[in-house]
Amino acid sequence: NRTIGVAVLGMGNVGAEVVRIISDSADDLRSRVGAPLELRGVAVRDLAKPRKIAQELLTDDPEALVARDDVDIVVELMGGIDPARGLIRTALEHGKSVVTANKALLAEYTGELATAAADAKVDLYFEAAVAGAIPVVRPLMQSLAGDTVERVAGIVNGTTNFILSAMDETGADYAETLAEAGRLGYAEADPTADVEGYDAAAKAAILASIAFHTRVTAADVHREGITAVTPADLAAAKKFDCTVKLLSICERVHDADGRQRISARVYPALIPLSHPLASVNGAFNAVVVEADNAGRLMFYGQGAGGSPTASAVLGDTVMAARNKVHGGRGPLESTYASLPIAPIDDV
Ligand code: NAP
Ligand code: HSE
Repeated sequence: NRTIGVAVLGMGNVGAEVVRIISDSADDLRSRVGAPLELRGVAVRDLAKPRKIAQELLTDDPEALVARDDVDIVVELMGGIDPARGLIRTALEHGKSVVTANKALLAEYTGELATAAADAKVDLYFEAAVAGAIPVVRPLMQSLAGDTVERVAGIVNGTTNFILSAMDETGADYAETLAEAGRLGYAEADPTADVEGYDAAAKAAILASIAFHTRVTAADVHREGITAVTPADLAAAKKFDCTVKLLSICERVHDADGRQRISARVYPALIPLSHPLASVNGAFNAVVVEADNAGRLMFYGQGAGGSPTASAVLGDTVMAARNKVHGGRGPLESTYASLPIAPIDDV
């Protein structure tokens, strides 16, 4: 008669949708987990903001919430490095499994957090950290664990794709479209992370780390954003049957002497309209994976926004809850090789 206690840190664009789904889909989630999921509390900064939740579930003391004995899973959706990093560490050290969508944090500290999760023999899941609703983290960590991935490339930032698509289709104003992306819940709390390519670089670091079983951080990723792209650039691209997309490209570089390096880069690229990524518009994302035996795989869907991202968060939460009820763990983040980074001029 076990119940799985869930604590949610953050009730913004994503957290509010996670809380809604846990309540609206309680019966389905119970049957999928084999035990009811019960919300123990939700940490926010401002207790006075109106929210669709019983007031007694809200707290502004996340430290106390993550350490509670009746919490089995902590879902971190507050974003940023601190205090999220310390809270996740505390949760793991108290034996809670953790689900997070925090790519900025993971791009720097996956190693530290994965070690803490392994030491505590609990799960650390982060499907929602890359490409919103699209399952790409678990396929790379699990389904392709027996293959050799050569390349992971695509559009992994919804905000910039929304802006570039609008500028391309209607000549829309950059600043107005960015503000609209914020209203729709696509943009980061500080949208500089989106438009300057930091968010895409963090995702590239996560993808490269799991695809190549090595450790890549955001600082290793060559990064250019979209702030210098103008409607005139998009109009010029059109004349050549091309468009401009912010691409994240991670690849294994095979040097002539047989050694391998990793290249990870984010930049606005001219791509032909006939390319499959050219028709990925709005806040949609797409990721193309090339592996030695699987060949080419393409993943496509909603890359940002509250409910698409909450879908991925809930998937991870169900997996972590099943493991709490039935035993087992995984998939595990694994580092087998330490591959050096190839400078941008070498690729
Ligand atoms: P958001 O709308 O800014 O919400 C953040 C929430 O965290 C707010 O409820 C805020 O409380 C709370 N919070 C922030 N700092 C806190 C603190 N120190 N103590 C307690 N609560 C705190 O962010 P979001 O868009 O939901 O994104 C959440 C995370 O998911 C981020 O890591 C983001 O990168 C990631 N993500 C977002 C998307 C997306 O499409 N939005 C997609 C994938 C991943 P208040 O409400 O009181 O301000
Ligand atoms: N700000 C991010 C984006 C949210 O626009 O892609 C999804 O990770």
